[in-house]
Amino acid sequence: MELAQNSYPIVVERGVLDRLSALTDTKRKVLVVTDDGVPEKWVRKVLAQFPKAAAVTVAQGEGAKSFPVFQSLCEKLLSLRFTRSDAVIALGGGVVGDLAGFAAASYMRGIGFINLPTTVLSQVDSSIGGKVAINLNGIKNCVGAFYQPELVAVDLDTLSTLPPRHISNGLVEAVKAGLLGDSGLFELFEAEGIESRMEEIIHRSLAVKRSVVEQDAREKNLRKLLNLGHTIGHGVESVYGLEGGGQLLHGEAVAVGMLPMLDGEALKSRVEQVFAKLSIDPHFPYDRERVAQAIASDKKAHGDKITVVRVREPGEAYLEELSLGELQERVRKLA
Ligand SMILES: NC(=O)c1ccc[n+]([C@@H]2O[C@H](COP(=O)([O-])OP(=O)(O)OC[C@H]3O[C@@H](n4cnc5c(N)ncnc54)[C@H](O)[C@@H]3O)[C@@H](O)[C@H]2O)c1
Ligand SMILES: [Zn+2]
Repeated sequence: MELAQNSYPIVVERGVLDRLSALTDTKRKVLVVTDDGVPEKWVRKVLAQFPKAAAVTVAQGEGAKSFPVFQSLCEKLLSLRFTRSDAVIALGGGVVGDLAGFAAASYMRGIGFINLPTTVLSQVDSSIGGKVAINLNGIKNCVGAFYQPELVAVDLDTLSTLPPRHISNGLVEAVKAGLLGDSGLFELFEAEGIESRMEEIIHRSLAVKRSVVEQDAREKNLRKLLNLGHTIGHGVESVYGLEGGGQLLHGEAVAVGMLPMLDGEALKSRVEQVFAKLSIDPHFPYDRERVAQAIASDKKAHGDKITVVRVREPGEAYLEELSLGELQERVRKLA
């Protein structure tokens, strides 16, 4: 990732978790943050390489992106007398990455941060780009920062323990990347043998995101493209997501939000077929009115103008600005 400040390597390599000493200073103190759904064997691999490591395991799930858990991490860093020359390591999915990254960004105004993503979603998307956050009063990512990691190391071997539903969930973000900026990546999903192309899928998804972030790290304009499917998707997620006791994962909700953003029936049907292959239901029957309301409360934190991302054809996306009312009207009218 080449940025004006704080550039960093993104290493995608099988077995890289065993070779961290070649990539970073393993002599300093590190706090490895993980959750209780991440298999022990991945945690042990990482701890084995840092003689001065401590570990914190938080409860799995979106609930960990909260002030109490954030505070407990900061307290842990303080009790272990971490300084700016030490580092926080996130080992897990997007939840652990967002939470640990925000602790790293905040403690002592910022200490080292290494992201070791272990879910498809975090490997194709959330681990790069420097957005870190926790939730507040039901508003996702309400409190956070732009804080770039100093290293991202993606080990595909960790996906061997990930449940199939989470594989598909994460691949929605890769489909998104294809639709935004790499038609060949989208076409990989239309061909046979997605499982055998995982390495290429991860590479190409990260390449799309990296290119966008390099041009607009702080989301002034272009980076908004990465929100394809997320405007309605976040609304759906806040009503039907796991946090509210519902049933949809992040990527699954984003798929629902993506379909209305596609121009023309031909493209829609291609994307529907890809989602069917992934066992993702983009037609999840949600309550239009409740989701329209949820979008409104989500947007309070963002102002009245909403930029949605539309796709003309795979690899060709554009931004459209709407008022909140217009967007809500569209959601209410969706068949
Ligand atoms: N910062 C960003 O740019 C960005 C982008 C997209 C999403 N996100 C955030 O990411 C989060 C979702 O991330 P996620 O989908 O990775 O969910 P997650 O972090 O909750 O992980 C999903 C589940 O998989 C388990 N798990 C993790 N690695 C595993 C492994 N290798 N084997 C078996 N189980 C494993 C976890 O314990 C968890 O139960 C959301 O909070 C979302 O807001 C952030
Ligand atoms: Zn997302």
